Amino acid sequence: MTRRILVTAALPYANGSIHIGHLVEYIQTDIWVRFQKMQGHDCIYCCADDTHGTPIMIRARKEGVAPEQIIEKMHAEHQRDFAGFNIDFDSYYSTHSPENQQFSETIFNALKDSGHIEIRDVEQAYCDTDKMFLPDRFIRGICPKCGAPDQYGDSCEACHSTYTPVELKDPACSICGNPPVRQTSKHYFFKLADFTEQLQQWVAAGHVHPQIANKLQEWFQQGLRDWDISRDAPYFGFKIPGETDKYFYVWLDAPIGYIASTKNYCNQTGRNFDDYWHNPDTEIHHFIGKDITYFHALFWPAMLMGANFNTPTQLAIHGFLTVNGEKMSKSRGTFINAATYLKHLDPQYLRYYYACKLGSGPEDIDLSIEDFVSRINSDLVGNLANLASRSVTMLNKNLDAKLGALTTEARELLAQLAQAESEIAQLFEAREYASAIRTICRLADLVNRYIDDRKPWKQIKTDPEHARETLTTVANAVRLLTIYVKPIIPAFAEKIESILNVEPLKWSDTQTLLENHTINPFQRLIERVDPDKAQAMIEESKQEQAQDAKSSKTPSPLDEEPLAEQITYDDFVKVDLRVAKVVKAEHVEGADKLLHLELDLGGETRSVFAGIKKAYDPEQLLGKHMIMVANLAPRKMKFGLSEGMILAAGPGDADVFALTIDPGAKPGQRVH
Ligand code: MSP
Ligand code: ZN
Repeated sequence: MTRRILVTAALPYANGSIHIGHLVEYIQTDIWVRFQKMQGHDCIYCCADDTHGTPIMIRARKEGVAPEQIIEKMHAEHQRDFAGFNIDFDSYYSTHSPENQQFSETIFNALKDSGHIEIRDVEQAYCDTDKMFLPDRFIRGICPKCGAPDQYGDSCEACHSTYTPVELKDPACSICGNPPVRQTSKHYFFKLADFTEQLQQWVAAGHVHPQIANKLQEWFQQGLRDWDISRDAPYFGFKIPGETDKYFYVWLDAPIGYIASTKNYCNQTGRNFDDYWHNPDTEIHHFIGKDITYFHALFWPAMLMGANFNTPTQLAIHGFLTVNGEKMSKSRGTFINAATYLKHLDPQYLRYYYACKLGSGPEDIDLSIEDFVSRINSDLVGNLANLASRSVTMLNKNLDAKLGALTTEARELLAQLAQAESEIAQLFEAREYASAIRTICRLADLVNRYIDDRKPWKQIKTDPEHARETLTTVANAVRLLTIYVKPIIPAFAEKIESILNVEPLKWSDTQTLLENHTINPFQRLIERVDPDKAQAMIEESKQEQAQDAKSSKTPSPLDEEPLAEQITYDDFVKVDLRVAKVVKAEHVEGADKLLHLELDLGGETRSVFAGIKKAYDPEQLLGKHMIMVANLAPRKMKFGLSEGMILAAGPGDADVFALTIDPGAKPGQRVH
């Protein structure tokens, strides 16, 4: 039976570039869609850019352009990056589209007409300078819990606590820096609680992973709160029907973008739109990250229920990407943009690696660069690609590129491979890609063992027809394995198809074999991962971060340690600086930072303790001319009296630099 399946991945924000964290999702989804298509199902993959909201508006203001210009540029960039990873959308649309506006209004009106929308006054932070209400993320201040400066209005990055902007100490508008005031305005609320029972039934019917269902139970127990779906002007988004200065909150029209993107697909292909969103025979699968579960498991189905659209068949929720065991980090160079990756490495590697790591649950997945390199080199290059290259090269070179007939024994081996079809298909269907790959690799091992037993490189010398038999078996095995990995590494599969001289492989091709068939010359399938290239990618990512930092606001050391109280010029010139020659320099017993110096000040000698032990050996300093603050009142220290200071500065420890000058300078001479 052919299934009609609509698949979506979350709509990436138009505000930023696609990075390898995003790619977990778009690759996971793409593999699933390709698998369904190979099975012959009527499956489409729809996505779009999520374009609305305050950040885009502010960025456009800063750059002095219209938000439309930014989102257009990003739309092209996103599409280019996705294509680079063989992520193949049937429709890649935009939430800033007439279709999306129309569906947003339709759904809003339906919810309003059925009494699920309520209007209430809300008091909120408002910036009088920028004349706008400030989203939590646009208010910065001191964390009320740990005191860290410069934190967002809703959560602290230092202690991870969450709070409301009202609790933030010394709040300031992050655009202009002025303190916000409180102001009241009218807001629209979606009464989510009206749908509690329907949502509970929906969750109980098994549309989400059991771990997610548990999380949802917690939320049900806390009670579903009304959801504020409006924002005041200025805002970049769709105006609420009947209002002049109120807009739909970006998260209202974002998921509706799934519908708009489907509509765009239908417009372009002549397909029937109602088949997708008004026909319960259609399956709708949303792939998302765990961070946006609340929106997709509660708000979204409730909106669809209230407006009489199909509800999702499945939410496929994945975890977050970590790199080398830690959150992606700009300074470590592990915040890697899709475009940067593509400059250095083959996209097939990442697709394969993510598949090796992905299961159906919402656990985080880790990309360890070392593991990545060895995994690709051993499985993909060493096992799979090697099978193909060993067999095809010999067939081409010594056997006129012709496959022969298969023996009974060969058929047995190939039957083992073909029979794994239903197990592997089930694993793909269930998003258990890691298990699918384990099964596929075990099969590849069988074939490698078969070659090692048969030794076609010896057979070819004594009995070429025997070698042809062996290699015909191997070529068939390669063809079957290629069917299995094709959803994961389509570019690799395409090369094999062209080498084997066959039509694009479908899942049902596991049921057929190739005999007495001419193949094409070998072409390189995939290169070993060069660890230097992986390193170069990390280095480039670090540099991008440094450049970003230059063009945007970086946290300054001044934030951590504010400047000391101002002094006047008169204060400053009170400091009397003189040339002083080091006549004695020695370690101080029991002190780990101090050196003891005796300084000739031209007529008098001063005894000084200086905190430069980690930076200088005493011998290095002997005879040097340094600068000293000569009129500093003597200070009693643990190791003796210090009669002045030499000029030396630095962040500390070995990084301290003492000022030495021309040896011709006269001790006692004043310097300025
Ligand atoms: N615009 C919203 C989604 C709206 S859907 C109607 C959004 N955009 S996003 O660009 O921040 O994220 C897009 C998807 O990528 C989300 O599903 C998110 O979970 C996923 N990921 C973003 N960073 C990720 C990682 N570091 N790791 C794994 N997935 C990540 O959210
Ligand atoms: Zn402001």
